[in-house]
Amino acid sequence: MTAERIEHPGLKRRLAEPADAAQLIQDGMNVACSGFARAGYPKTVPLALAKQVREGRPVKINLWTGASVGEELDGALGDCGALRTRLPYQSIKSIRRHINSGDVQFVDQHLSHTAEWVRYGHLGEPDVAIIEAAFIDKEGNIIPTTSVGNSPTYALKAKKIIVEINTAQPVELLGVHDIYIPNDPPSRRPIPLWETSQRIGTPFIPANPDKIVCIVKSDILDNPYSIEQGDETTAKIAANFCGFLQEEVKAGRMPAELLPIQSGVGTVANAVLEGLVSTSFSQLQVYSEVLQDAVFALIDAGKLLGASGCALTLSSAGQEMFRRNVANYRDKLVLRPQEISNHPEIIRRLGLITMNTALEVDIYGHVNSSYVLGSQLVNGIGGSGDFARNGYLNIFVTPSTAKGGTISSIVPMVSHVDHTEHDVMILITEQGVADLRGLSARERALQIIENCAHPAYKPYLLDYCKDANKYTGGNMPHILEQALSWHMRLRDTGTMLP
Ligand code: COA
Repeated sequence: MTAERIEHPGLKRRLAEPADAAQLIQDGMNVACSGFARAGYPKTVPLALAKQVREGRPVKINLWTGASVGEELDGALGDCGALRTRLPYQSIKSIRRHINSGDVQFVDQHLSHTAEWVRYGHLGEPDVAIIEAAFIDKEGNIIPTTSVGNSPTYALKAKKIIVEINTAQPVELLGVHDIYIPNDPPSRRPIPLWETSQRIGTPFIPANPDKIVCIVKSDILDNPYSIEQGDETTAKIAANFCGFLQEEVKAGRMPAELLPIQSGVGTVANAVLEGLVSTSFSQLQVYSEVLQDAVFALIDAGKLLGASGCALTLSSAGQEMFRRNVANYRDKLVLRPQEISNHPEIIRRLGLITMNTALEVDIYGHVNSSYVLGSQLVNGIGGSGDFARNGYLNIFVTPSTAKGGTISSIVPMVSHVDHTEHDVMILITEQGVADLRGLSARERALQIIENCAHPAYKPYLLDYCKDANKYTGGNMPHILEQALSWHMRLRDTGTMLP
């Protein structure tokens, strides 16, 4: 079965056991893996390596991926102590624990940067690339599975390549991917992409067959993404989001079919995007990084002309539906390298509506997407900065409270900044919409508190503003002794409420 998926005659002879492939990974190596948002990452080789490490083989590696990966990679290697450094993003509980305890060094990167940094040599050379594939063609090119991520650059730059052929993924994936690597400066030219679904590259990852040192088999599916069902709060955020876009169309700032939409990762973003299914909007386009279940709901509803992303991050039901119908969806989908899906040049050219999720936002519009109480990493900045910095209309969404109302998502000062006031145009909670375009810092504070804060916290936020204006002044008034007092109260009493 696996051999049938290796069309290159010479490479058929390189079929190996995962344990043999794992032996190629030595202590201190930079290991660059496929995988983005828990899609298309290698599974059997990391599981074999983790077993060897547990049995006493001393290996600690620097693990680079596209973005988050599943338990078989981050979970298995993190838990046996085989990770020294991890970049550029993660999202499962066990690796998060090892990072927050300081056992694993985490480099949190804008996701459009990693491939370039690898080609520029900023990170050193990848010693081994491990890439999950649907098959290898006659020339030795690699047809990836459910994500592209940074794999084209990893295959280009790694000294050796290990391919995991995943026979649980359909060969009909051929034609979904579009692989393009820009030239590096000083020879960079404009990226020739001006339409969401345009194809500018090859349907495979070009690979030098001499570098493919072994090929192993796998039939393990991606860890499904657990997308919680939307609740009343996310339904209200979705309604506010859709209502706001309708007003933008009425005001002539947006075409009736909208501009291409980018939607962030997680339960809230998925529910908000899915909200578009029950609107009158049609002929929509998605130019995003992750394509979650909501994208397929929009395709099925006949609302979507096309979707471009770099990974299919689906629930268990979504994965099964996609595998069964891949041939039907293929015409509507393009999976690209993340440096293209997240490229500033293209985001600006297409004029994206970007919609990402905040953990907390402060009264002046700074957004924290990644750290609880300023210290505990949740996932990372991911691609949100790539999109928010460069979109046509940059929107952040968040429920106005978290953890049963004990936390206000609107605070006097955020405990960590991912997105500055300069990149946040619109804030949406279930309470309403704050349109921050063209407002001064003092004006933004009133917009955000009036329209987005939860009523239980509103009076305290207004008091803070009043006192800050009175006692401190300045263009962005803060009382330094009190700015983070809400977080200290949460830490000490379990709630931000006085
Ligand atoms: N303080 C403390 N915890 C908070 C919080 C706050 N202000 N706001 C939310 N949380 C907690 C939630 O309670 C939840 O905790 P749980 O897992 O224990 O239930 C967790 O954070 C996730 O929140 P949830 O409301 O379920 O959001 P989500 O699934 O939509 O994810 C982010 C939200 C911010 C974590 C996620 O979007 C993210 O990682 N963003 C950064 C990367 C990014 O934007 N990528 C997209 C680019 S395409």
